[in-house]
Amino acid sequence: MKIIICPDAARVAGLAARLLADQVRGRPESVLGLATGRTMEAVYRLLVGMVRADGIDFSAVTTFNLDEYVGLSADHVQSYRHYMRAHLFGHVGFAPSRTHVPDGVAADAAVEAAGYEARIALAGGIDLQMLGLGENGHIGFNEPLSSLASRTRVVTLARATLEQNAGMFGGDLSRVPARAITMGTGTILEARKLLMVVTGARKAAIVARAIEGPVSAAVPGSVLQFHADCLVLLDRAAASSLAQSEAIEWQMRHDAELVAIQGGVSED
Ligand code: GLP
Repeated sequence: MKIIICPDAARVAGLAARLLADQVRGRPESVLGLATGRTMEAVYRLLVGMVRADGIDFSAVTTFNLDEYVGLSADHVQSYRHYMRAHLFGHVGFAPSRTHVPDGVAADAAVEAAGYEARIALAGGIDLQMLGLGENGHIGFNEPLSSLASRTRVVTLARATLEQNAGMFGGDLSRVPARAITMGTGTILEARKLLMVVTGARKAAIVARAIEGPVSAAVPGSVLQFHADCLVLLDRAAASSLAQSEAIEWQMRHDAELVAIQGGVSED
């Protein structure tokens, strides 16, 4: 796992957007795994700006979102398909047929989940998977105690997730869908590269458990420690509970890949 700590959330978002743009510039037919959530809104806003300024062509890119609420159609304003349209798909020249989000109103959610997994394989797998981290340690909607080998499937959301996301449903817990379709942690681990983005002091404790704690189904994000090419971008607030921050800062200054990602600025 490689880690970059940025001074603030805006710089984390800028770096994540640049890495996404670089991925598509380098391989225009990239398969991107995309995430939703408040953290990603800033990333997508900056990416849209970069795409417009530099004329990056997204028409050959294929995307697979991590998850979708069961019961919300693509038109529902809280569905992740709607989120993606509002924050990214509607602003960058994606080919609509190449953007994939699980169908939350499929007649049979389990069949939809299995088909989604098959579509990822058919596309050749995911080149770069974006990830956020839930306050309870979930990735996608893989809640604590999910099998770390799980595949795309229907899950029941944790109470902590309903509470975390209730704000988007008028603060009413009972309006948050109880179930979702999510890529599994096993599916996520098969992406060739992972890019996790976490900001804010509210995530500091879970960031420390995911990065430094034992790999455990109690913290699904900790499974990233098993991935051979995983980069984590944090702001200072999210990194504030890490015991290894000196070691991380050392790597940031001396690891050639991390120095290059940061824009070649080495401090010694
Ligand atoms: C949501 C999504 C996750 C996301 C996480 C963090 O529930 N299913 O994929 O990473 O929660 O969201 P936020 O960035 O709003 O904290």
